[in-house]
Amino acid sequence: MPASLRSTLYFSGTNALSMALRLIGDPIGKFYSSPDMVTFAKRTNKVSVQKSITGVLVSSNHQVCSEVLKSPNWLSRPFAERLYTGPTTYTPETIHPFLDSIIAIDGAEQRRIKKLMQPVFTPRVIDSWKETSLRIVNDLFSNVKEHGEFDFVASIANPLPLAVICEVIGVPKLYWEKCNIWGRTLAGIGLDLPKNNKELEELEATSLALTDLIGELLAIRRVKPEDDLISLLASAQTDGQKLSDKEIIASVAFTLIAGFETTMNLLSVGTLALLENPDQLALLARNQELIPNFIEEALRLSSPIQFVVRTADSPLVLADGTKAKAGQTVILNLAGANRDPAVFDKPDSFLIQRENAKKNVSFGFGAHHCIGSLLARVEAEVMWRELLRRFPDVESWKLTGTPKYRSGKLIKSLESLPMSFRVSQPSAF
Ligand code: HEM
Repeated sequence: MPASLRSTLYFSGTNALSMALRLIGDPIGKFYSSPDMVTFAKRTNKVSVQKSITGVLVSSNHQVCSEVLKSPNWLSRPFAERLYTGPTTYTPETIHPFLDSIIAIDGAEQRRIKKLMQPVFTPRVIDSWKETSLRIVNDLFSNVKEHGEFDFVASIANPLPLAVICEVIGVPKLYWEKCNIWGRTLAGIGLDLPKNNKELEELEATSLALTDLIGELLAIRRVKPEDDLISLLASAQTDGQKLSDKEIIASVAFTLIAGFETTMNLLSVGTLALLENPDQLALLARNQELIPNFIEEALRLSSPIQFVVRTADSPLVLADGTKAKAGQTVILNLAGANRDPAVFDKPDSFLIQRENAKKNVSFGFGAHHCIGSLLARVEAEVMWRELLRRFPDVESWKLTGTPKYRSGKLIKSLESLPMSFRVSQPSAF
């Protein structure tokens, strides 16, 4: 069957199924119809795990999400494989930024690749990224001063993590804007899945462009290594084994996307939360030692990755008594778990002194725990410290328009955040 006909049938089949599930009030129908995962959690949180008639389990419960993520028996690969080989023209020769990267590989293979990537993400190395982050933040803020009124996403929250991750990976500046555009497509269509043939074509062309670029950079770094992730992976070995080009290219491509689309959300939603809660902003400005805890609370509230999916490798029983068959899938609603009232008192309130804010599940747990969690925290700390230093008159921090969200389900991020600070003008006398 021609690929375009196969994908057309696929899309009409999934659209019809999601419509039917919505009509009968099935949890998966609610998943499709809820505007975001926090609303979805409120519609489905009566029991810790709900079961769809499709067999899929869903949970917004903190204990269940943590338990499944920590368990080696719940795998990432099977669902990713179903997802990306369903409608796409994926072949064994293709390099797929999700399917071929560590996020969709389990067990010993995943541990081998992650171990080789780890030297770029140790606390000591990440500490050296403080200086880089500060240099980039200063560059970006120098433009903000001139304007006074500006879009926080376009001016800071998007370019900062993009620049940092490109420098960590070793992507020359010439390609940063392209990576920004590709990241948007891959995080949007790629993670939420294409809804029609046009989106599918766009996704496949973008994946190819990104993996081609990383492939070219890999060839260059093999001849002339630099101090970056691509060069490290090009020469890295563990137990005498090297990574294949496919493993390097896919994992670097995935890291690029994972590194800025998520952090951008933390920075923008965290800043919006401060603007909407002036008492918390004033408290933070007076007590800057609260910044690390404020970052944890911003992570809890924003949940940059809203949900993840796992599949049981064998018949399993969860601590709450839920039974799963081998091959059964569970959607873990991280955004919901971060608002679980059994763990977080007043879960919808933004409280920078919340004692257990660190219990957020935003970076996941277990084998796939985010490799860039320290880097994201460093960028966030550097940015907010600098923001408070440059604009200490926090009463002047104001929203100047309505913040707009992007439509993504898996990554719910802000498209724009119009705001202003009062910048002290030099005296005329
Ligand atoms: C606020 C920022 C971030 C958030 C909320 C976040 C969240 C996550 C989550 C939830 C996972 C686990 C997904 C799963 O279990 O299926 C993950 C994995 C990952 N993240 Fe992040 N991330 C952030 C920043 C970063 C940064 C800056 C990098 C770049 C270095 C990065 C690279 C990765 C990679 C490579 C993985 C896959 C790890 C594996 O499969 O073992 N992330 N991230």
